Amino acid sequence: MSLLETARAVRENAYVPYSRFKVGAAIRATSGAVYAGCNVENVAYPQGTCAEAGAIAAMVAGGDTEIAEVLVIADSPEPVPPCGGCRQKLREFAKGSVAITMATTDGQSLTLTMDQLLPGAFDASHMERA
Ligand code: THU
Repeated sequence: MSLLETARAVRENAYVPYSRFKVGAAIRATSGAVYAGCNVENVAYPQGTCAEAGAIAAMVAGGDTEIAEVLVIADSPEPVPPCGGCRQKLREFAKGSVAITMATTDGQSLTLTMDQLLPGAFDASHMERA
């Protein structure tokens, strides 16, 4: 299955009783394996998790730690960008050149690189003193 088909399918399983906003995410790891995630909300709102976080957790659980490509889909008037926290979560496993495609259920899509979505990212080098 393509990333689009995978993300579109997993989105249907999103648990969103509070926002009613279903999001699906699919990650292709450099191994070639594809991992899926959907948003999972909670009555204690901050405990909810984004689709990207679910896909990342599935990837790591599956034994992969390097992202090759990401696709996120939602029923939105325009392609929905990953939230700030998810950009940092993705950056942990994605190089700056990795393509992140934001799609809508009605067929729009926008692709940006990881670096375009999170310029000047905090990384381990910022914890070192020269
Ligand atoms: N959400 C995601 O799953 N990913 C995004 O990139 C944007 C927002 C979810 C979180 C929450 O369940 C709902 O969308 C509304 O914010």
